[in-house]
Amino acid sequence: MKNISVGIIGGTNGMGRWLHDLLAGEGCAVCVTGRKTAMTAKDAANVCDVVVVSVPIAATAGVIAQVGPLLRKSQLLMDLTSLKKEPVALMLAHSQAEVVGCHPLFGPSISSAAGHNIVLSRGRGDAWYDWIKNIFTKTGYTILERTPAEHDRMMSIVQALNHLNTIALGLAIAETGIPLAEVSQFSTPVFRTKMDIVKKVFTESPELFADIIARNPDRDHVLATYEQVVRDIRAKLKAENGAELKIIMETAAKKLF
Ligand SMILES: NC(=O)c1ccc[n+]([C@@H]2O[C@H](COP(=O)([O-])OP(=O)(O)OC[C@H]3O[C@@H](n4cnc5c(N)ncnc54)[C@H](OP(=O)(O)O)[C@@H]3O)[C@@H](O)[C@H]2O)c1
Repeated sequence: MKNISVGIIGGTNGMGRWLHDLLAGEGCAVCVTGRKTAMTAKDAANVCDVVVVSVPIAATAGVIAQVGPLLRKSQLLMDLTSLKKEPVALMLAHSQAEVVGCHPLFGPSISSAAGHNIVLSRGRGDAWYDWIKNIFTKTGYTILERTPAEHDRMMSIVQALNHLNTIALGLAIAETGIPLAEVSQFSTPVFRTKMDIVKKVFTESPELFADIIARNPDRDHVLATYEQVVRDIRAKLKAENGAELKIIMETAAKKLF
């Protein structure tokens, strides 16, 4: 495929900007839209071969519903959303275009493709799927081909459970009422590392992290598991020594590693 034009809705920032740079580097004519750009999402849908949705999760359904019906069968509609089931279903329902679900498993500030994964989910059609897969592969990314449901199940662990744990840690520390500046004087290297992660999640994009948990279809299961584990740990610690906790950690280590 040659002379491909790409319109990235939400391409003025974040992951949309990352994809802009990558595709422009591959010779595509890439234009971006945001809420204040002269070019609108509808303009992009009318003139571009490929339309990518990369807006905040809460705005994604509305944007797909707006641009999907404008697309022809020959075009590609793709998204970069951190969840896949709902956006892929919506892209299929609202358009006749080829559809690809895409989730880069990294943030926009990476310095190279090395060691980074991208999940691709087939929606409709093969030609554009093969095109984008080929571009990501040749630029050095590792591709994981999964259904939207398989993706979201894994993200319930890699993102929902993981960020839930970080949020619980930050909230629990705040709940102690002791200023972090005071606690930090006693920092260990592990504590510093964890607080860097807490700071990132709480201050850089709280909306993104909240939606990644709240909108995952397996959210309730993950929350219940987490709650149960904390309850179990508390029960084991009633013995006032670490012996029982040590045993459950050793048993889990055999499963994990
Ligand atoms: N950040 C990550 O680490 C990461 C990783 C993988 C996937 N993702 C996914 O990538 C998508 C975008 O996230 P991001 O972190 O890149 O967001 P972001 O940095 O906040 O960028 C959002 C983009 O969408 C535009 N935008 C914001 N609200 C909009 C609205 N209501 N309608 C239309 N455009 C709007 C913004 O442009 P203006 O402000 O100029 O309007 C901007 O270009 C999300 O689906 C997220 O799940 C994020």
